[in-house]
Amino acid sequence: METQSQWRRTHSCGELTAANEGNKVLLNGWVHNWRNHGGIIFIDLRDRKGITQVVFNPVDDPDTAAVAATLRHEFVIAVSGTVRLRPAEMANPRMPTGEIEIIADALHLFNEAATPPLHINDPDASESEELKLRYRFLDLRRPFLSRNITFRHKVTAEVRKYLWESDFTEIETPILMKSTPEGARDFLVPSRLNPGKFYALPQSPQTYKQILMVSGFDRYFQIARCFRDEDLRADRQPEFTQIDAEMSFIDEEDVYTVFEGMMASVFSNCLGHTLPVPFRRMSYEEAFHTYGSDKPDLRFDVPIHDVGHLFAESSFKVFSSTLESGGKIAALAGPECGDLSRKQIDTLTAHVAKYGAKGLVWLRCNDTGLEGPTRKFLSDTEERALLDATGARTGMMVFVIAAPEKVCFTALGQLRLEIGKLKNLIDKKDFNFLWVTEFPLFEFSEEEGRYMSVHHPFTAPLEEDVALLGTPEYFKAHSRSYDLVLNGFEVGGGSIRIHTSAIQRKVFTLLGISEDEAQEKFGFLLKALSFGAPPHGGLAFGLDRLVMLMLGLDSIRDVIPFPKTSAGISLMDNAPDNVAEVQLKELGITLEK
Ligand code: AMO
Repeated sequence: METQSQWRRTHSCGELTAANEGNKVLLNGWVHNWRNHGGIIFIDLRDRKGITQVVFNPVDDPDTAAVAATLRHEFVIAVSGTVRLRPAEMANPRMPTGEIEIIADALHLFNEAATPPLHINDPDASESEELKLRYRFLDLRRPFLSRNITFRHKVTAEVRKYLWESDFTEIETPILMKSTPEGARDFLVPSRLNPGKFYALPQSPQTYKQILMVSGFDRYFQIARCFRDEDLRADRQPEFTQIDAEMSFIDEEDVYTVFEGMMASVFSNCLGHTLPVPFRRMSYEEAFHTYGSDKPDLRFDVPIHDVGHLFAESSFKVFSSTLESGGKIAALAGPECGDLSRKQIDTLTAHVAKYGAKGLVWLRCNDTGLEGPTRKFLSDTEERALLDATGARTGMMVFVIAAPEKVCFTALGQLRLEIGKLKNLIDKKDFNFLWVTEFPLFEFSEEEGRYMSVHHPFTAPLEEDVALLGTPEYFKAHSRSYDLVLNGFEVGGGSIRIHTSAIQRKVFTLLGISEDEAQEKFGFLLKALSFGAPPHGGLAFGLDRLVMLMLGLDSIRDVIPFPKTSAGISLMDNAPDNVAEVQLKELGITLEK
């Protein structure tokens, strides 16, 4: 009887070259392609390392060639044979194995395959996303996904190596935990042994890692799976992975140094790319007022300018009424935008409307000044001042938005990104890192009608703002938090934490969390912090986002082996799904009809 060991491969399908000419080899893999040229059978044999051409000639070996003629796409086979140079005109310089082929002398069929619903051998096949997700196991055979997942492995390995070598201890924390309010909704898991009670899946290991600092672990990290029941986008999945870390007896500078080092090492070892360190830093205030975002894409400049003061005397109703109602007027000069058509301007106007801007003033800049339907509402002095403030030159277009502050800067920030794309101002090969620092400690939630933490309630206030917490202007305090932004995406974030109970209590009071409520929700953490908590801080990176950006991709689904759709469904295995009545009964759960 033939055994697997008889057919054990000697090489992968990606490694044989002209240097192996004459070698006896044995390959295992999948039939990627098959062709029958007048009885001579050509098989492209594939494994995760590449593709090798195999030739079965009926003149040399009619029996083997006859079996080879029955092979179809994705059959799993073993082939033994001899490496031969392809005739020069048949060589394929685009393939690493393109100079050679295997002249087969034996063939073993491990398994047949049903006709695949995806054209695995055609990277350009236009199958629907839905079909590809349903047959994810087949899509993962394609080089695109296979390489992405392998690259992700390499990034994870380099992260581990760097952090191990930097004296971090890798520690796993529970997946079944207590539900704590942390921003997004929790996924809940009913407990059979404790009827009526629920675990929550961690939105992040935040509370555990702080407790580990209290326990003295000093430098912790974990490649941690996190779960958030939130609305999904191209860069968000309900379960995702964080590179999560926490350190004791440190301040912001230590965090920046360690993790800039980690990024530099990962980029160098995975991409051969040298990152300039230290990374640039910018306060949230500056990021928002200059780029209209807390995660500005600085691969191109095009700053926003607050120009309200230029229009204090404006006779233009839109401007004067905005200023009267406490709103802002801001502008940017779009490079190479002087030639935009009316249609393109209308599209940009519709785009900023999505962010609440009721209008978009546009003025073409030419040698004599500004030109456009709104020009007549500006005095010559205002025109000059606007040109100076925005630095507009001939060939540019000045865009102005007058609106409440948040809308005004956010909409211009989005306009800036659109112009960046439209005018190809973005160098796609660039990796532009930025620390955004000093976020506000609190933000007002219209939905809740109260101030809430911008990050989480354990984020320390800036030392110089601690005194503010005792005043009615407490909401103006800033935090010791930082986000790491890469090419306009938030790839990580964290903070120095509060480690004294007096400040923690104060923050809870300001957030409207009563002593009892704090005890109920975070009692375990507060108790731990009361037993000698060291000063500590940390951060977490979104591994999926990081890998997506390193590979220049647009969706984190492309770097996750088994992702979910935007409706949170795994089409391959149909999760979430119904469960048996008896399972619900055991858990004491009845569903509303
Ligand atoms: P934060 O909530 O900012 O911080 O998350 C850290 C990073 O995780 C990534 N991320 C996501 N990636 C994919 N899908 C999602 N749904 C998703 N949500 C977040 C982002 C983000 O920057 N405990 C704190 C960290 C700390 O303070 O130490 C935390 O979880 O890249």
